[in-house]
Amino acid sequence: MAIIQGRPVGILGTGMKLPLKVVTNSDLEKQVDTSDEWIVQRSGIHERRMAQAGESNAALAAASAREAMRDAGVDAGDIDMIIVGTNSPDTLFPGVGPVVQGMIGAGRAGGMDVQAGCPGALFGMSAAAGGIASGIWDNVIVVGSEVMSPLIDQTDRGTCVLFGDGAAACVMGPWREGAMRVTHADMKADGNKSGMIEFPGGLAAEPASERTLREKRHFLKMNGREVFKFVSKELPDYLANFCQSCGITCDEVDWWIFHQANIRIIEKICERMNIPMGRVVINLDRYGNTSAASIMLALHEAREDALIQRGQKILISSFGAGMTYGAMLVES
Ligand code: COA
Repeated sequence: MAIIQGRPVGILGTGMKLPLKVVTNSDLEKQVDTSDEWIVQRSGIHERRMAQAGESNAALAAASAREAMRDAGVDAGDIDMIIVGTNSPDTLFPGVGPVVQGMIGAGRAGGMDVQAGCPGALFGMSAAAGGIASGIWDNVIVVGSEVMSPLIDQTDRGTCVLFGDGAAACVMGPWREGAMRVTHADMKADGNKSGMIEFPGGLAAEPASERTLREKRHFLKMNGREVFKFVSKELPDYLANFCQSCGITCDEVDWWIFHQANIRIIEKICERMNIPMGRVVINLDRYGNTSAASIMLALHEAREDALIQRGQKILISSFGAGMTYGAMLVES
């Protein structure tokens, strides 16, 4: 059941933090055998950000969390939990969540990471919604934060052109007048497809060795074509069913926030679901695929740009390594 019961749950504020360095498609033309035309045509991406020294995953996450707290009018001392959706933690442990807890001085908060492919932050928001609705937590910071660039083979043109770094956050808490309200959420996984996107080397299954380095097992591996097929086949029916379980039709959704992986995937989903592109939030042209940060960045920018108006329905969905996917309905 997708409906969130118990205490009404709100999104009280949002924030974001991007690395300063911009990498354009023409920069990448100097790095690998690619072209601006190919990248734009196949992905819709024009530029992305790349973290430099001092811009760790935790530093970006903490900066975005501070902005979200300012926006929400909530102090660090009021935070009960920090959930960071990430696939590129600075270290396997400690997680980014506990490090952010220390950086922002959230004295009484817990901290943890959700590693669930690109939907990590959406899964984190769903967990936060459950915790707030049931009364375990009052205020929860959920961050999507990625520094994927060191985990990507910068000589592999199949992946290095697609991904970008960045972080965005929201503060969730008991719903109050004027805040967005989270009403429904659902999360799925299909572990039988786990080979489509993976990071095989340097961990327990394949500890770092000369071989893992030589064979570049410590970089993201993706079968882009299979991912494309899987997502454009599964997501339309899944999202239509999700709408039904929320008691609405797809036409009643005012804004669709999709995982910003690739414009062609989004267009394919919209074509299959008859969603006008004018109702879709797009920022992947400027940031690329920022993995778990992507839906958070899009949500924050859609609020900042006043795309989202009072009384509208926003459907947020994501997909990624696992394969995982999920959806959340929010009313503004
Ligand atoms: N620049 C130029 N050529 C490139 C290239 C690049 N950056 N990357 C791949 N190519 C080449 C390939 O080598 C191939 O050449 P060949 O025909 O000589 O073998 C050709 O382009 C087509 O490759 P293919 O992989 O079939 O391209 P595609 O149309 O499937 O597009 C993706 C590739 C990755 C853009 C596309 O599959 C995709 O969007 N997949 C989804 C990925 C995704 O969203 N992942 C994130 C999930 S969270």
